[in-house]
Amino acid sequence: MKIVVDSVEGLGFAPHELAERPAEVGVLMADAAHFDVEYVINPFMEGHLHSVDRARAVAQWQALQAVYAGLGYQTHTLASVEGLPDLVFMANQSFPAQLPTGEWVALMSVMESHHRRPEVEVVEAWYTARGARTLRMTKGDHLIPFEGMGDAHWFPGRRLVVGGYGFRTSREAYDRIAAVLDVPVVALRLTDPRFYHLDTCLAPLDAETALYVPSAFEARGRALLERLFPRLIEVPLDEAVDLLACNGHCPDQRHFVVQRGATETNRRVQAAGFDVIEVDTGEFLKSGGSVFCMKLMIP
Ligand code: ARG
Repeated sequence: MKIVVDSVEGLGFAPHELAERPAEVGVLMADAAHFDVEYVINPFMEGHLHSVDRARAVAQWQALQAVYAGLGYQTHTLASVEGLPDLVFMANQSFPAQLPTGEWVALMSVMESHHRRPEVEVVEAWYTARGARTLRMTKGDHLIPFEGMGDAHWFPGRRLVVGGYGFRTSREAYDRIAAVLDVPVVALRLTDPRFYHLDTCLAPLDAETALYVPSAFEARGRALLERLFPRLIEVPLDEAVDLLACNGHCPDQRHFVVQRGATETNRRVQAAGFDVIEVDTGEFLKSGGSVFCMKLMIP
């Protein structure tokens, strides 16, 4: 089903009617040896230039990787590259996907900032070395802005993409995803520059439940989310901004890994029956990223 849905009127299906999708078993992270804030491309980075405590960042990164290993995931490490401080945000350079044939491919990003564009070829080389085919976000000569899993999420367990656009990714990217992967896409326009990626304002927990920041979406986007996730949990604005609580990650429909200190968010997540695992990503918050952006789920 190659359709992009922008409003509930176009939603001619319920997620549970769509084909199932196997869960990923691997987690790819780029080490933090070259991480810092070296330029400002989102509101969080302002005032944090060159302020990263590298040793602390490396320790926080290692602790996060250990959490995924402890949950039973196979962890992979990509070697960081000097001069590419944001490579560590591995959700952004690509979108791994399974074609209807069963083949795994990766759609490579066209990053908005020139500072980050060279990261894509580093990640592409990683895929190529592992024999995975990569696909381009282009239409003829024209490049389509797209920031991978920062903006495009798989609906838990189903062949359905939920995509954000407006800041880093263009709406057009979802026409391409729908066409290439033969999947329906629910496209949500983002409206608040503090929530510049979908993974800063939406965190699916399972096929019924998601955390979200209502004010980051248009009314028609909120209506779509209400239809997709019968149990929507609001994240308080202060925790969503100060702690990027919506950038927490639920890899297995059971555990929610999140920046520590989001007391009210955690209370709501636990009340919904999920287990909270708190981590410290304080150094990465300076760059506008936390748990979800620091890793890429891979087959
Ligand atoms: N400094 C990075 C940027 O602005 C942070 C990216 C965070 N990633 C994310 N998926 N939210 O691009």
